[in-house]
Amino acid sequence: MTAPDVPFQFQRTGHVSRNRAVLAAMTNKQSSEDGTLSEDEINWLLMRAEGGFGIITTAATHVVPEGQGWKGEMGVWGDHHVPGLTRLATGIRERGAISLAQIFHGGMFAPEAITGVRPVSASENPLSKDSDETSKELSYDEIESIISSFGDAASRCAKAGFDGVELHGAHGYLICQFLGEKTNRREDVWGGEIFDRARFLMRIIQDVRNKVPEDFILGVRISPEHRKVGVRLEDSLELAEMLSEAGIDFLHISCWDCSWGSSEFPEDERTLTQWFSDRLGKSVPIISAGGIWSTSDAKAVMANGADMVAVARAAIGHADWASHISEENYSPMKPPFSNHHLLEQGLSETFVDYMRGWDGFVA
Ligand SMILES: Cc1cc2nc3c(=O)[nH]c(=O)nc-3n(C[C@H](O)[C@H](O)[C@H](O)COP(=O)(O)O)c2cc1C
Repeated sequence: MTAPDVPFQFQRTGHVSRNRAVLAAMTNKQSSEDGTLSEDEINWLLMRAEGGFGIITTAATHVVPEGQGWKGEMGVWGDHHVPGLTRLATGIRERGAISLAQIFHGGMFAPEAITGVRPVSASENPLSKDSDETSKELSYDEIESIISSFGDAASRCAKAGFDGVELHGAHGYLICQFLGEKTNRREDVWGGEIFDRARFLMRIIQDVRNKVPEDFILGVRISPEHRKVGVRLEDSLELAEMLSEAGIDFLHISCWDCSWGSSEFPEDERTLTQWFSDRLGKSVPIISAGGIWSTSDAKAVMANGADMVAVARAAIGHADWASHISEENYSPMKPPFSNHHLLEQGLSETFVDYMRGWDGFVA
């Protein structure tokens, strides 16, 4: 079995990650109102590149203003974002890591209070349990326009010097809303079985490819299961095969806890990583995320078939997490973390405040 401190090479593009540790995408609310990166946001990510991560992923970043999910979210929809993106990408490269921007559209979770327009989705869906407001079903032209915005955003990232993008198809946002059978009830070419519900994502992949250099990394993050939008494991496995055939550079599965199995097949003892690895073999590199704190956690996930491990909360608490993964017994302190500790780890007061909303994270 490969150890987490062994370098990883992306076969198609040739990029080499110095180890198997990926900084997972993390929203941190530190961007300016127009979506430009703040020094705080750049610093927090550069500290993790300095801290040894092989790959640094940005927070989810919206490809059109109407796709913004929350305040303080970075944007990649305009050329005014490029100087900040360039500073970030350059800094990450100088520190020896690969840079990925996680590009997304919030869809029905891009609130009107932020964007000024009614949220959109694959179908007309209730926006919450307690209101009768619904999302607007996207027209054919609107779908084409959003697809093109993903490509334009990726091209902007490439121009800024990013090594690649991760398409955010997880956690119930727009791409996920197209994938889910509950939120996508369309009867045209964009809906139907998983093959058709995946058309939006597949077309985004095509559009991005048409607009970026040949050696630009293109990966996809998905939720293996997502009850709310109606993503089921069987469909996700089929989707994973489609993505592998489409030649994406990595598939990132967001498991929330890598030791979990499928909630749909509780009698099957396999972890979610094993389900995907069994289905895909070595046809596409797998990144797996969720609940990884120690070297032995990372090893266990890789033993389950992941090629790389992505880390979020442990990396908030420990900027240099990745530089310890060659230590057999590395198992850093878990939350709650003090305000002082988090500031020392390069979070701003704004980010620490946001983390107070994550149960038990801040003391
Ligand atoms: C503060 C915070 C912000 C997050 N923001 C994003 C995001 O922008 N995009 C995304 O795909 N996942 C996001 N996640 C999920 C993480 O990438 C990760 O999958 C999850 O936290 C589980 O990994 P962990 O146990 O290592 O924290 C976020 C998680 C945290 C803690």
